[in-house]
Amino acid sequence: MADPSDVPLASYASPFAPQLLRGKVAFISGGGSGIGFRIAEVFARHGCAVILASRSLARVQEAASRIVAVSTAGSQPMALQLDVRDAAACAAAMTKAVAALGPVDILVNSAAGNFLSPAAAMSASGFKVVVDIDLLGTFNTIKAWFDASASTRGGVCLSITMARQIRGQVLQAHAGAAKAAIEALTRHLAVEWGPLGIRLNCLAPGPIADTEGFRRLGGGAPAEVLARATRQIPLQRMGTRTDIAESALFLVSDAAAYVTGTTLIADGGAWMTEDNGAELLFGDQQPGSKL
Ligand code: COA
Ligand code: NAP
Repeated sequence: MADPSDVPLASYASPFAPQLLRGKVAFISGGGSGIGFRIAEVFARHGCAVILASRSLARVQEAASRIVAVSTAGSQPMALQLDVRDAAACAAAMTKAVAALGPVDILVNSAAGNFLSPAAAMSASGFKVVVDIDLLGTFNTIKAWFDASASTRGGVCLSITMARQIRGQVLQAHAGAAKAAIEALTRHLAVEWGPLGIRLNCLAPGPIADTEGFRRLGGGAPAEVLARATRQIPLQRMGTRTDIAESALFLVSDAAAYVTGTTLIADGGAWMTEDNGAELLFGDQQPGSKL
């Protein structure tokens, strides 16, 4: 079931040309919620046909039905079930998408899993589940897209990473390792596939209010802890899902036609100044508890 916060913006004034993605088709893993949902909505508002894919078909179907009202694309948003850890499921979903809407010009990898855990308390299976969803899942989805569409038509891929691995942060060794590897994968593929007309980049959000990721990574901390964390961000506020969606829109558009193999950090400057130890971030919360 979709989260009630996953609804289109009540009002939206785009800083971009209204039909920036007219005629384009975008496949968005994790598009049924949070950041992926807002990316799908903003792309659809700019004329893009969108396909939302995740494990819960009900969630992506409901999210797709909410986007219809604001979409300016010529076709209805489409919902597909897949677990990105399953290469065959990714291939099947991508084949269905191409059969229904034609070549997929844009791939967004937003699907991910995360929780807070001290590395010392994490089992191999806990580490693996996050690496499997984030890194292997991103590879599987990109490979399915390459085989079904991009290898012959070119296109743009954007993977959502994070910035906490740059300086290292407590309780995030598993996710940081996976996201760093996605950024490396992106550079390798940008070099290998650039001659085929394929651009690949990453977008690294900071703390984005009103998302599952934020709730899992300290969003439940006491108000004074969150206020202190916010004061540490150079731009003095948490990010919004729209901040991330508009950065994504830039990177997949022709405005970024000469940009490949890079990561855009959209975090208000937080990675340079935020506390990377547990005390300030999480106060008296018990990290490692099942969230
Ligand atoms: N702390 C430590 N270990 C944890 C944990 C936590 N909070 N949550 C799960 N694990 C461990 C489990 O204990 C298990 O290891 P074990 O076999 O040694 O016990 C392993 O991770 C797999 O857990 P499981 O629940 O079977 O995985 P799953 O595939 O059902 O779910 C998750 C994957 C855990 C990432 C789940 O939270 C999820 O599906 N998340 C998607 C949404 C999300 O995380 N959004 C935020 C994106 S930033
Ligand atoms: P979210 O709402 O939980 O989004 C994650 C999505 O991934 C869900 O829609 C989920 O849908 C899907 N998903 C999870 N496992 C999957 C799997 N195995 N196969 C297919 N789909 C799967 O969280 P979010 O906070 O918006 O995060 C979105 C992205 O932003 C993630 O890449 C995250 O790492 C990144 N990010 C978030 C923040 C933040 O502050 N929120 C900060 C930095 C980076 P199903 O459950 O239906 O599968």
